[in-house]
Amino acid sequence: MTGSVPPAPEFGETLPVQAVPEVLAYLARRRSASAMALTAPGPSDAELADLLRLAVRVPDHGKLAPWRFVILRGPAKDAFAAKITTLADSQANPAKANAALRKLTRPPICVVVISRHIPGEIPEWEQRQSASAVCQQLLLAAPAMGYGANWITDWYSYDPRALEILGVEAGEQVAGYLYLGTTTEQPQERVRPDVAAITTEWTPG
Ligand SMILES: Cc1cc2nc3c(=O)[nH]c(=O)nc-3n(C[C@H](O)[C@H](O)[C@H](O)COP(=O)(O)O)c2cc1C
Repeated sequence: MTGSVPPAPEFGETLPVQAVPEVLAYLARRRSASAMALTAPGPSDAELADLLRLAVRVPDHGKLAPWRFVILRGPAKDAFAAKITTLADSQANPAKANAALRKLTRPPICVVVISRHIPGEIPEWEQRQSASAVCQQLLLAAPAMGYGANWITDWYSYDPRALEILGVEAGEQVAGYLYLGTTTEQPQERVRPDVAAITTEWTPG
């Protein structure tokens, strides 16, 4: 939607730390779009490939790549949603569970970020955090390309039968359903936390 993403740097290439005022301006105003407002067109194949390439440029202790993607789109997404829908009535709050499914059915494309845990010396917590970073990176990259994006979990990220339908394996967890598309309404600023109220400076006792 907004042109090409620069190619990936060569391995070992110097990547200078430098001020990028445009990124600061973007971060100062970024917002998720409502999943319900996302419609076609979503990212093209080439744009999606670029988004995923950007998404994995996250901190990753041990270089384990403890995450993977499942793409939901087109008729396969419709088929997935139909299977998930059969599970909604057995949720604790069926009305709410069914309503939540509209976020799954409306957007044209979804990237499911699946957090993996690779046994070894790197704590599981750190591997899960890296998966969250992948989600956030997508949430930043997609709007920079002109697409609305929303990070959702909802009940089908946790229901064991829904996880089986998605193909989530032992040791894996859904980090997020990242819904992408063209937004039909522009988001408005929401309430933000008082940073000073949650910030202290440690001093020696
Ligand atoms: C891990 C995670 C899971 C979320 N799951 C949901 C969800 O299931 N349903 C929902 O309405 N919002 C959910 N949200 C919140 C949405 O992403 C929400 O649109 C977002 O907080 C808006 O804030 P922003 O505009 O600053 O990005 C979730 C957020 C996170 C970080």
